[in-house]
Order: sequence, then C-alpha cells, then structure tokens
Amino acid sequence: MRKKIVAGNWKMNKTWEEAKNLLLNINNYVSAHETCEVIVAPPAPFLDKATDIFQSKAKIAAQNVSEYEDGAYTGEISTGILKSINVEIAIIGHSERRSLFGETNEMIGKKVDRALNEGITPIICCGEVLEERKSGNQQKVVSEQLIAALAKVDTDGAKNIIIAYEPVWAIGTGETASPEQAQEMHKAIRDLLAEKYTQAIADEIRILYGGSVKPSNAEDLFSQPDIDGGLVGGASLNAEDFKAIISAGS
Ligand code: PGA
Repeated sequence: MRKKIVAGNWKMNKTWEEAKNLLLNINNYVSAHETCEVIVAPPAPFLDKATDIFQSKAKIAAQNVSEYEDGAYTGEISTGILKSINVEIAIIGHSERRSLFGETNEMIGKKVDRALNEGITPIICCGEVLEERKSGNQQKVVSEQLIAALAKVDTDGAKNIIIAYEPVWAIGTGETASPEQAQEMHKAIRDLLAEKYTQAIADEIRILYGGSVKPSNAEDLFSQPDIDGGLVGGASLNAEDFKAIISAGS
C-alpha cells in the first residue's frame, strides 16, 4: 500500500518571517494529526532553518539541484551541499525550470542520477504543454521526459524516486486536469515504470499530481487508484488550504 504524499512547492515566494510562521503552523498540524507524508520545498536560503523547524514527520525539499558535483558554478546548489544541511529530497525538472531556465531532458537525467548517487530522493517532474495535449501527444511527451530522466536509474535507484505528473496547462492557471485525465496519465506512467523495472517496483513508486490542486479538488484527485498525492504550488502558500489538502491525502 503506497502512503500518499502532499508536497508544497513555494517557488520564489515568502520572506523569512512569513516562511517561519507557515513552517511552524504546518509543523504543529503534522505533529498533532495522523497525516500522509508531508514535504515542503521553500526557497533555498530557508532550507537550513526550515529543517530545524520541521522536527515533526514532515520533510524539507529543495526546489532544484545542480547536475554538477562541485566547482565554479555560481548560484548553483549541489547535492552534497543539500546533504550537509540534512535536506534529502529535491524537486527536479519542474516545468518552470524547463521552460524559463532552459533545462533539457538530458540535464534532468544528470540531476536525477547525481541526486540518487548522493542519497537524495528526486521528485521528478514531467508534463505536457497545452498544444501537446490538444494534438493528443501527451503520453508520448511524458514518456520521452521520463525515459530521459530515468536513463541512468537502475532498479535500486528506482526504489528511491517520486514522480510528479504536472500538466503545464494546469500549473498556476486554476485549470485542473480532471481526475480521469490525471488517472489515465498516472496509469500510463506506472505502466512505463513496470516495463522499465518490474511491476512490483512500479507499484511502490509514488506518482503525485500537480497543477492547481486545491482543497476543493484534492480529494477527488487523490481517490484515483494511481494518484498518490499532490505537488501543490499556489495553495501551499496558505496554511489553511495546505492543511486541508494534507487532510485530503491522509
Ligand atoms: P500550482 O503549481 O499548484 O500553483 O498549479 C503546481 C506546481 O507548479 O508544482
């Protein structure tokens, strides 16, 4: 039985004061309730202090990680740096990284490989843009993204990955994939994982849905057989909304 995950991606939002209050609020909630797995990805400068605040079962993730080990890469953050401050999860290949910062499938494959080698769990993002869905190419696009992201991931590595399907047309737009549309893609992703690894491994991998998840749609989405929780952007910035989504996954 896969335990659900609700992960919040704060993107480039919040001052430290605001972040601290939200982290404390979430930590209190998770400490006092029986919840699904909870992950929060705050902006990078807050990662260290955020891990101190999250004394509960909730975990802190980075929003991105470098494909390089170390060296002259101004502004980048390595897996080793993350590990040294006890951050053990990183979102990799978010659609904003792909579209705004030029990350390619190949780069994402390298980042995933580096993360796993360092013992960091990657949350591997994939998802099609609107034109690709309109032309019926969504499964082809997503499977190409995943084949590249998992190019160097062997069976052991596959046991330590999380996947997030985030149709780009649903991110930050208020438009959500219907539970049926999302389930169809999640099933296709699980089939791809079963083909590459084994059915048993595929059955263990959590596949999250992302794209305008909110309190009003979380339960319907999370009740689909292959949807194992959500990667939440906008609604994770508000304590009450995020807690309601955690409750839907618990
Ligand atoms: P959203 O973002 O929930 O605001 O659509 C999701 C994401 O980008 O991970």
